[in-house]
Amino acid sequence: MESGYTFRLETPADFAAVEALTREAFWNVYQPGCEEHFIIHSMRGDPAVIHELNYVCEDASGLICGHIFYTHTSVIAGDGQVFPVITFGPISVHPEHQKKGIGSALIQMTMKKAAEMKFPGIVITGNPAYYHRFGFRDASDFGIVFEDGSSFPAFMACELEPDALAPIHGRIQFCPAFSSIDQDALLRFDQQFPKKEWLRLPGQLH
Ligand SMILES: CC(C)(COP(=O)(O)OP(=O)(O)OC[C@H]1O[C@@H](n2cnc3c(N)ncnc32)[C@H](O)[C@@H]1OP(=O)(O)O)[C@@H](O)C(=O)NCCC(=O)NCCS
Repeated sequence: MESGYTFRLETPADFAAVEALTREAFWNVYQPGCEEHFIIHSMRGDPAVIHELNYVCEDASGLICGHIFYTHTSVIAGDGQVFPVITFGPISVHPEHQKKGIGSALIQMTMKKAAEMKFPGIVITGNPAYYHRFGFRDASDFGIVFEDGSSFPAFMACELEPDALAPIHGRIQFCPAFSSIDQDALLRFDQQFPKKEWLRLPGQLH
């Protein structure tokens, strides 16, 4: 990757800059506007957040231009047994710094750290074209299905050591903050940021 970038753990002093970065990275990409900065904000103080894995990337001038956010997640088996796994996302790289290897570096360094912390595996949703290069495969290959019981290519998992996910199967249960978004609270939160246009663009998912 290009030189001039440094990586370190996120601290509370970074929270505002991280939320602003997340908004810049996601704005109008998957839907008009975005929700990801609000999701991160809503989860501050939530015990599901894994602070030891939440890294930022700083550019040469010390501005935060990359961030990865991890949470504890559960896989619930048919008999009610609960298996702990982890999830990353949102992951954000500022548009001016994308395609320089920052996202890959954030993912690879935190996956190594997560393995050292003995987490069995990571379950995510995202674009397979990007995540397969890091070892992610269809979650269904591991017997893990989505919250509604479905399987689809954007729902992926990766073992952090060989066979670590073998005993784990069932339905994923992501943190509620990812799906139950209070749209009025999102709009109020977003008003703290510089105004941006909410655009409906080709390729958005919602
Ligand atoms: C996705 C993201 C984090 C990648 O970070 P990055 O630093 O630009 O990525 P890297 O430089 O490590 O890798 C670049 C490669 O990933 C590909 N890539 C980047 N984003 C991608 C995406 N959403 N889908 C598929 N491929 C993607 C690029 O085309 C490039 O491919 P190449 O190596 O074949 O040329 C960044 O583009 C971003 O913040 N995007 C907006 C927010 C977002 O989509 N986050 C992920 C949600 S799942």
